[in-house]
Amino acid sequence: MAPLNIAIIGSGLSGLSLALALHQQNILCTIYESRPAPLNIGGAVMLSPNALKILDALGIYERVRSKGYNFETLEYKNGSGKLLEVYEFGSKEKYGYEALRIYRTVFIDELLAMLKEKDITIVFGKKFTKVVAETEKDVTWEFQDGSTQTADILVGADGIHSRVRRYLYPDLVPAFIGMAGVTAAVPTKQLKIPTGYHIPVTIMTPNGGFVIAPQEVDGSEVLIGKQKRMGEGFDRAGWDRYMADKDALVEFLQEGASGFPEMVQNAVSHIPHDKINVWPFYAVPTLENWASEKRRVIILGDAAHAIPPSAGQGINQAFEDVYMFALLLGQAEKVEMQDALSFWQDYRQKRITKVMWLNKQTDLRRMPKEAQSRGRLSKRLS
Ligand SMILES: Cc1cc2nc3c(=O)[nH]c(=O)nc-3n(C[C@H](O)[C@H](O)[C@H](O)COP(=O)(O)OP(=O)(O)OC[C@H]3O[C@@H](n4cnc5c(N)ncnc54)[C@H](O)[C@@H]3O)c2cc1C
Ligand SMILES: *[C@@H]1O[C@H](CO)[C@@H](O)[C@H](O)[C@H]1NC(C)=O
Repeated sequence: MAPLNIAIIGSGLSGLSLALALHQQNILCTIYESRPAPLNIGGAVMLSPNALKILDALGIYERVRSKGYNFETLEYKNGSGKLLEVYEFGSKEKYGYEALRIYRTVFIDELLAMLKEKDITIVFGKKFTKVVAETEKDVTWEFQDGSTQTADILVGADGIHSRVRRYLYPDLVPAFIGMAGVTAAVPTKQLKIPTGYHIPVTIMTPNGGFVIAPQEVDGSEVLIGKQKRMGEGFDRAGWDRYMADKDALVEFLQEGASGFPEMVQNAVSHIPHDKINVWPFYAVPTLENWASEKRRVIILGDAAHAIPPSAGQGINQAFEDVYMFALLLGQAEKVEMQDALSFWQDYRQKRITKVMWLNKQTDLRRMPKEAQSRGRLSKRLS
């Protein structure tokens, strides 16, 4: 059997990690990215042990561990500092790994460096437009510049607004759910956090939650943030305008601060515009298929399952997709590929369903009191 040749659309965290995972299985791949240069959206991502174990197996963890903030628990407290709940994001003792918060750009740069060392090709400025032919043994697609390309398998790692997904679901458009996370980064010392007060923390008041999470290796900067809900009828264009209005975003973060402890008031007292990030939440219905009928076109990461941010599992689940996919392809000579992919999808979907449920519990807690139901968190992700 000739060696497999895989094309990956998208150089986000899913695409980059997939390339490294395939390389480890001695499978050839090329990444095609529509942007002219690496993705550079701000902010940090939080990685939990399930993902870190995979990154470790890929030789990535040891290279990024010392470049982010390592921690174990997130506490929920009320306005006067009473501990309401402890949420475990990582534990060296129990899972072998602490959780890691790392800047997305730092992480991506490290992955790009690894790709380079391994001679994996990434082509920037190539926008996938459509699949033109799929047979039992290969797939041909077109780029926006009119050129076409053929590979054994085409993987759509092209994010929540995936174009590759349209081949499987022509009519699917992710629905903006009228909610977003509004965050900013400020120096930790600006907050004057009382000695001994644990961060990361979510401070709960009847008006919703306020998150404070350290970043940088030494925790010298914190992410601060709240969830913003818009009224009915606030459409995408309205959001784009809102997100561009940095003063309005600062105002939103400052809103109601007087009802929070002093450190929150300090946190929002000075917010540089270039340190603000907005993460709009989209819903994609649960998809029955992550692969085409002939199994030559596959989607994974956000393209296959957009997970709301609450439990911080979006990118963590993508790493699970990627790693298992590469392992199965590595076995493809022994196992029928059709079976391998069906197994992959089935297994991964069950896992995502569990994560979505966990998210819902977290969401319920972060919303203002009256919006909460009696839903409780009784299980943890292991
Ligand atoms: C502001 C923000 C903060 C976030 N914070 C967190 C967090 O703290 N923790 C967490 O787990 N998750 C977080 N997420 C979600 C997380 O970023 C996603 O789950 C993750 O990035 C998905 O990775 P991906 O590689 O699947 O998709 P993406 O990161 O969206 O990457 C897709 C790539 O494909 C490229 N592309 C798209 N279309 C085409 C095309 N037609 N042709 C070629 N290339 C194409 C894009 O340019 C992009 O580079 C955050 C998201 C945002 C927006
Ligand atoms: C926090 O909880 C404690 C104990 O239940 C209570 O006495 C206090 O008033 C609460 N603080 C706020 C701001 O709700």
